[in-house]
Amino acid sequence: MKIALVAPTGKIGSEIAKEALRQGHEVIGIVRSDRAAPEGLESVNFKAVDIADTAAFADAIKGADVLASAYGPQHDNIDTVAAAAEAIVAAARAAGIKRVVVIGGAGSLEVAPGLQLVDVPDFPEAYKAYALAHRKAFNVFKTVDDLDWTFFSPAAEIGPGDKVGNYKVVAKTFLANADGHSKISYPDYAEAFVAEIEQGKFLKDIITVAYQ
Ligand SMILES: NC(=O)c1ccc[n+]([C@@H]2O[C@H](COP(=O)([O-])OP(=O)(O)OC[C@H]3O[C@@H](n4cnc5c(N)ncnc54)[C@H](OP(=O)(O)O)[C@@H]3O)[C@@H](O)[C@H]2O)c1
Repeated sequence: MKIALVAPTGKIGSEIAKEALRQGHEVIGIVRSDRAAPEGLESVNFKAVDIADTAAFADAIKGADVLASAYGPQHDNIDTVAAAAEAIVAAARAAGIKRVVVIGGAGSLEVAPGLQLVDVPDFPEAYKAYALAHRKAFNVFKTVDDLDWTFFSPAAEIGPGDKVGNYKVVAKTFLANADGHSKISYPDYAEAFVAEIEQGKFLKDIITVAYQ
């Protein structure tokens, strides 16, 4: 497949790009400025573009089968996630790409019917602004009927590690193992993310992945 990926330079985005290349896909990497390709990403077709410029963004991704995103805000502009979601929707429409898969936040997953994780009283304060920003982005996608989007939230904890497998992918609900740990490594998240790109099992839904 030809996969256009926003943020192929991020901690998670670079793992997704590597996994996609490993699976034999072509990757168009949407970056905000020209720079040398990071190690392992030499065969990504990097295109520097301002994602707020819909015409330029659409032009850069034209011909891709899927528009994916691992966009991550910085600590001083956390609230840009929803704007990035709007930009992704606009560019997908303008480029005629129906399939969109984006990273979300675990805070938007339900811990009980109608209750999202970010709304539980002991949700960690340090992550709250990020979780609320991702919920705004999720709310953007929930209004989109004409694209086959998937909002792919990581487990609560995601970080460096090996491919372990032994994970489950589910829709809507927060997922943990029998001990209550909600965890996934970057490479396993990337594997599940690329599998969803390939298989399109969860259209117009929020999903997550965690070790069991
Ligand atoms: N449990 C959870 O719910 C959880 C846990 C961790 C992360 N996340 C989410 O996962 C996402 C990725 O996290 P990460 O750790 O991989 O983040 P990261 O390492 O900080 O990477 C952020 C990426 O976004 C890109 N970016 C930022 N602003 C951009 C812009 N205006 N235009 C184009 N690209 C832009 C960065 O590009 P540059 O290289 O140019 O800076 C970088 O590639 C984030 O949204 C984060 O909130 C969720």
